[in-house]
Amino acid sequence: MKAGLRCGFHDICNSSVEIPACPLTQPSENTWVAPLLARDITMSFPKLAPSDLRAAAARLPRVPLAHLPTPLEELPRFAARLGGGVRVFVKRDDCTGLLLGGNKARHNEFLLGDAVNQGCDLVVWGAGVQSNNCRQTAAGCARLGLECRLYLSKGHYSLEAQGNLLLDYLVGAKVEFTDAAIGPELDALLATKAAEFRAAGRKPYAWHRPRVIPLAAVSYALCIAEIVEQLTSRGLKPDALYVSSSGATGAGVALGKAVLGLECPARLICPMHWPWHIPTALARDANDAAERLGLSHRLTATDVDADEAFVAPGYGIPSPAGQEALHLLATTEAILLDPVYSAKAMAGLMADVRAGRYAPGAVLVFIHTGGVPAVFADPVGALSGRSSA
Ligand SMILES: Cc1ncc(COP(=O)(O)O)c(C=O)c1O
Repeated sequence: MKAGLRCGFHDICNSSVEIPACPLTQPSENTWVAPLLARDITMSFPKLAPSDLRAAAARLPRVPLAHLPTPLEELPRFAARLGGGVRVFVKRDDCTGLLLGGNKARHNEFLLGDAVNQGCDLVVWGAGVQSNNCRQTAAGCARLGLECRLYLSKGHYSLEAQGNLLLDYLVGAKVEFTDAAIGPELDALLATKAAEFRAAGRKPYAWHRPRVIPLAAVSYALCIAEIVEQLTSRGLKPDALYVSSSGATGAGVALGKAVLGLECPARLICPMHWPWHIPTALARDANDAAERLGLSHRLTATDVDADEAFVAPGYGIPSPAGQEALHLLATTEAILLDPVYSAKAMAGLMADVRAGRYAPGAVLVFIHTGGVPAVFADPVGALSGRSSA
């Protein structure tokens, strides 16, 4: 996209440098409707090798921020305690680096790559006070010399400088708190702030869902490629993938599974509900990601296995099943989950195994998306429901 051309959907696509064409500048039927219809005419898509997927991603701007590939480790003591004879592997995306790890290190390689490529000098981001997203975005900005402005939704959190918030301050982010709720209300605030900075002569790169979710999703399609290679080198194939996601990470996992031709379930255990139908939104985001990659693959909502049953008692509030998962993994393998995201996702895996969903010997891969700093923001909450004295 060239200077002066404005993308109809994306108010951040006002770059003065050339970037790969934004597919959403095309007529809307190319992006929002056609992908969902594509499967009705029973299209079949080519199965790509991990190296093909990497080659497709090489067309996108990217900055190196994450420690990749992350290790894939087997959890024999955890699996033995879980029962059912399954084998459980963990993809250690809690070890991506970038200020204590997590999934946003992968995301930010593409998002901040996009920002740098557009010549932006400022990143305008927001989420909850204990956002892992904001912590790793602030860290990426520090690494790249970009100013970082965070607008953090107060929710029920303490505003004490603990956990992720402490780390935001330590890497130099400028933080403001807001009563705007996470989701459409906060998105609107970020758009307003970005417009103010733009009017003042700055070049902000702002959180804008239709742009950032597909780009971030690309990074998790690539994570699936890593997993496939790591399992193949051990002579294994996955029988199921599990990850905590209601958003970009899950869109990328679903896309990676489709593009690489995996037949196993990819279970997205949702940490939160959204005011939209999650499988439909994620299929659309995965399709936008595929377009950016120049791939013909298209998903429908039925290709996205998003399970909202583990959100209760609410987003950000620990659940008894999540706390059991957190303590079982910590005490058997010394790997820490966080109560908000990864513990609830592991609770989903455990519930499926206990329900007899998998035969003995099945290979289950749990993608650990990080989130561990939140444990230090709420150590009492993290300890609640401790199963061993
Ligand atoms: C630790 C952790 N896991 C999972 C997620 C979900 O990621 P996504 O929003 O890409 O679905 C988040 C989101 O902030 C997170 O912080």
